[in-house]
Amino acid sequence: MKTPLLEYRLFFFISSCLLLQMVAAQSQCLSHQKMLLLQFRSSLVFDSTASTKLARWNHSTHDNCCVWAGVECDTSGHVISLILDNEGIITDGINSSSALFSLQYLERLNLAYNNFHSNTIFIPVPAPVPVQIYNLTNLTYLNLSNAGFGGQIPNGISRLTRLVTLDLSTHPNLIIHLEIPNLNQFFENSTQLIQLYLDGVDLSSRVPKFLANFSNLKTLSLSQCNLQGSFPTEIFQIQGLLELSLEYNDDLSGRIPSFPENGSLRMISVAHTQFSGSLPPSISNLSNLSRLVLYGCDFSGSIPSTMAQLTSLTYVDFSHNKFTGSIPNFQSSKNLTSIDFSFNGLTCPLSSKHFEHLSKIVYINFESNYISGRIPPSLFSLPSLQSLYLSNNSFDGLVDEYVNVSDSQLESLYLSSNRLNGSFPKICECVCLTIENSGFEL
Ligand SMILES: *[C@@H]1O[C@H](CO)[C@@H](O)[C@H](O)[C@H]1NC(C)=O
Ligand SMILES: *[C@@H]1O[C@H](CO)[C@@H](O)[C@H](O)[C@H]1NC(C)=O
Ligand SMILES: *[C@@H]1O[C@H](CO)[C@@H](O)[C@H](O)[C@H]1NC(C)=O
Ligand SMILES: *[C@@H]1O[C@H](CO)[C@@H](O)[C@H](O)[C@H]1NC(C)=O
Ligand SMILES: *[C@@H]1O[C@H](CO)[C@@H](O)[C@H](O)[C@H]1NC(C)=O
Ligand SMILES: *[C@@H]1O[C@H](CO)[C@@H](O)[C@H](O)[C@H]1NC(C)=O
Ligand SMILES: *[C@@H]1O[C@H](CO)[C@@H](O)[C@H](O)[C@H]1NC(C)=O
Ligand SMILES: *[C@@H]1O[C@H](CO)[C@@H](O)[C@H](O)[C@H]1NC(C)=O
Ligand SMILES: *[C@@H]1O[C@H](CO)[C@@H](O)[C@H](O)[C@H]1NC(C)=O
Ligand SMILES: *[C@@H]1O[C@H](CO)[C@@H](O)[C@H](O)[C@H]1NC(C)=O
Ligand SMILES: *[C@@H]1O[C@H](CO)[C@@H](O)[C@H](O)[C@H]1NC(C)=O
Ligand SMILES: *[C@@H]1O[C@H](CO)[C@@H](O)[C@H](O)[C@H]1NC(C)=O
Repeated sequence: MKTPLLEYRLFFFISSCLLLQMVAAQSQCLSHQKMLLLQFRSSLVFDSTASTKLARWNHSTHDNCCVWAGVECDTSGHVISLILDNEGIITDGINSSSALFSLQYLERLNLAYNNFHSNTIFIPVPAPVPVQIYNLTNLTYLNLSNAGFGGQIPNGISRLTRLVTLDLSTHPNLIIHLEIPNLNQFFENSTQLIQLYLDGVDLSSRVPKFLANFSNLKTLSLSQCNLQGSFPTEIFQIQGLLELSLEYNDDLSGRIPSFPENGSLRMISVAHTQFSGSLPPSISNLSNLSRLVLYGCDFSGSIPSTMAQLTSLTYVDFSHNKFTGSIPNFQSSKNLTSIDFSFNGLTCPLSSKHFEHLSKIVYINFESNYISGRIPPSLFSLPSLQSLYLSNNSFDGLVDEYVNVSDSQLESLYLSSNRLNGSFPKICECVCLTIENSGFEL
């Protein structure tokens, strides 16, 4: 009679062992890895009210460090991912013998948005990026953005031969910035990079042509890097590149080259640079282009009418350039939300067709051009439009004709310095309407 029970117990015992083994096989943290994590944490000062991860690592409640927040392990229990961004860390730098650098299996490390800098009374003192970070040779993802690291970043990123994402960017309003004194050396062997964010890093150099050989690159973000000289046009033509940002490099010159069929770029921004020349008609070959930001450059010539084929456009800013001629017809760009052509030399009249079907457009700015003719009444019936800037142009005609605008969402309307006559109809009930002195009776 005892045999079945024994069998049952034996079966139960064996199956629980199997189960335990399976759990273990998934990721049971290795004890030395756990020790390293705890050592690393104890070397950090952090605000436990801001921390959602570090503060919850608990040896006694969770023996398995692989389930700790922000930690991920491989199947053998090595820590491969440490995501500690926004953890309220206020530690003065990372010690060169930190346990962090012994987590040799790490593939992803994110320390972004912490405060590794120290503070004197008035100015923050940036923390150096320790050269030992290059010991983590399995890293594919490294994010030190806005973390208080500054000064020269040591050469040798090339030792991280698996790196595909590197983010060292800092916000423009922070005082702390990293510097890369020699781009050529820095990126010598990094051709496998997919995402590179160096915004705010002081590069003080020309952009090396060899970046165009980084054929895996999808994002290249180099805004406010103090770039010099002429930007290599070949970089625009990297196949598969999705985002290119060169904003706020006041000394950077360049031209926008022609684009082959099926170009992949979705976002181009060269705002506030010395880019010049005209915009090539082949811009229409970038069929997924969504954001095109050219403000504050030296572009001239007419805006290619082929832009009308760019159905994915959402945001267009060509303001403060020297474009002439007419405004393209954007009626196929149904996702357009914002369009700014202010402060150019555009002349041709607007037709109501220009704005047909633009149901998402919120912002239109054509201020300070030489646009003549009537203001198309259809402008006032765009369902989402909130701001319309038309002042300082040569619009003429009577404004009385803009009837039927009671559904308008308009909050701001600027019409001054035109040749308009008549009295303006009541567009909305509230005082939300801002009409500057327009030379006509209100
Ligand atoms: C870990 O959890 C135990 C039991 O809930 C608790 O007593 C202890 O204070 C915790 N330790 C930390 C560091 O949060
Ligand atoms: C790093 O930490 C060790 C042990 O805590 C200490 O002896 C050493 O001075 C520190 N090094 C630096 C550069 O702070
Ligand atoms: C970094 O790597 C070097 C050489 O590979 C080794 O001597 C050193 O101990 C490593 N440092 C750490 C902190 O693991
Ligand atoms: C790095 O990754 C490879 C393959 O993913 C692995 O075999 C190796 O053990 C890892 N760790 C180190 C320190 O190289
Ligand atoms: C780096 O981390 C910050 C903070 O979490 C995040 O906003 C940013 O997108 C990350 N960068 C990359 C390239 O993933
Ligand atoms: C880059 O690769 C070349 C060739 O493989 C090698 O000789 C060189 O040492 C590498 N550079 C760095 C900085 O790792
Ligand atoms: C780019 O790669 C090609 C072929 O691999 C090579 O011939 C050329 O020299 C490289 N260009 C630069 C600027 O490194
Ligand atoms: C461009 O894309 C279209 C549609 O996906 C395809 O038919 C065409 O062959 C592609 N052209 C080139 C040059 O890749
Ligand atoms: C445009 O985006 C779609 C959807 O992501 C993608 O399938 C297509 O290949 C892209 N076209 C080009 C030319 O990159
Ligand atoms: C688009 O690319 C094709 C192939 O390079 C080219 O023949 C055509 O002229 C381009 N389109 C425009 C509008 O330039
Ligand atoms: C317009 O936006 C919607 C929603 O974001 C998206 O699904 C659609 O693909 C976009 N259309 C084009 C042509 O990009
Ligand atoms: C009016 O527009 C012209 C053409 O863009 C510009 O030169 C001028 O400065 C503008 N005037 C004002 C007062 O903004």
